[in-house]
Amino acid sequence: MSELPLAVAEDENPDPDVLEVTLHARVENMEVVAGKTTPVWTYGGTLPGPLLRLTAGDRLVVHFVNDLPEATTIHWHGIRLPVEMDGSPHSQAPVEPGETFTYDFVAPDPGTYWYHPHVHDAAQLGFGLYGALIVDPPAPPPAELGDEVVLVLSDIAVRDDGSLAPGDEGGDLATLFGREGGVLLVNGVVQPTLHARNGKRQRWRIVNAAKSRYFLLGLTGHSFQRIGGQTGMYGDAVPSDELLLAPGERADVVVEPRGADGATEQLMWLPFDRGYGSFEFRDPIPILDMEIVGDAIEEAPLALPAVAPIEPLDPNGAEDVHIRLTKETDAEGALHMGVNGVAFDTAIPAQVGQTQRWQIDNEMEWDHPFHLHGFFFQRLDDDGRPSEPVEWLDTVNVPKEGSVEMLVRYDNRPGPWMFHCHILDHADAGMMGMIDLMP
Ligand code: C2O
Ligand code: CU
Repeated sequence: MSELPLAVAEDENPDPDVLEVTLHARVENMEVVAGKTTPVWTYGGTLPGPLLRLTAGDRLVVHFVNDLPEATTIHWHGIRLPVEMDGSPHSQAPVEPGETFTYDFVAPDPGTYWYHPHVHDAAQLGFGLYGALIVDPPAPPPAELGDEVVLVLSDIAVRDDGSLAPGDEGGDLATLFGREGGVLLVNGVVQPTLHARNGKRQRWRIVNAAKSRYFLLGLTGHSFQRIGGQTGMYGDAVPSDELLLAPGERADVVVEPRGADGATEQLMWLPFDRGYGSFEFRDPIPILDMEIVGDAIEEAPLALPAVAPIEPLDPNGAEDVHIRLTKETDAEGALHMGVNGVAFDTAIPAQVGQTQRWQIDNEMEWDHPFHLHGFFFQRLDDDGRPSEPVEWLDTVNVPKEGSVEMLVRYDNRPGPWMFHCHILDHADAGMMGMIDLMP
């Protein structure tokens, strides 16, 4: 039984409006699976990398040093930043082994974000390179939301001798499915224990940092109150028994731990049907023990702070963009995934200030989580209006043989912006494209 750990980055800058850190990416030998030594790829020697926490409007400066055996970058998933800081291989030269790069940008929007590499994404992320990035609103969150717990969910593929399974193990078939590591982790640990004061609310900020695995979550004897998602908070809590986080997605939820003193409840990974092979013959897996401590205390009912409602984007006059998520097999029988039948370089032209209405059709028999860099979008419901509660998203699950419609408005940050499937094996197989945003 191990406690729930999470390293926190140390601020090297006395200015309260700047978080300045030095981050070394390096291989660290760790005991992820009991009795085995695994050479994990880490940010700063910990799994996950250190939590970076700042207030909206603060500047983040990261002196990044690449001590890994191959080139890499850091992408700040969900943050609306200048394109040169996006960590995309289209907007910066990959940082070679032994080299450094300084990321320096302002984080404008409160929310739950994360960071990860964007070179050999699937392999590098699967080897352990990811961390959480939280941007607080300028006013501190009210105490009645409870103590905050950050949960970084992931998985890792460790072989019998402790080594990491190579990123291409299993060939095209594994790529097509998306490689899931057999060892499930919460904050880098197998089934850690969280001690929870009986009746005292907790705010869980959850990141799905796995390269391919979906997390459908249930908490035995409890339900969730979802108070936010990827950015910002909702006006009202949305109750649910289960939470789905596709790769790249985040959730902000309140949990009210209750039970007998010393009782253990479990956070479960539940099989989710994202297509053939994902659901059949798979059992729920406990990923976290929540141990209830003490006699029940009573708290006032949950009341969310008043938040300015998110204005729904206006679909009138939006330019239509239609993309298809596709797969092909070439004459040699090799697998190619793509957008509109093209691997890697489908380019969508756009103009600063413009609004586009995207229709994303999934032609495959598996779900794909669609992620857009640099800009938020609003999902549309069947009647073409932004769905309630109106929220800003950067990642959305596109169901198998289904589609998603969304509106995106481009602010004044021209450049090449990526979009891709966040099952990173699919992205690496070509399911990505680019928005060419022109001034
Ligand atoms: Cu989290 Cu381009 O990705
Ligand atoms: Cu995909």
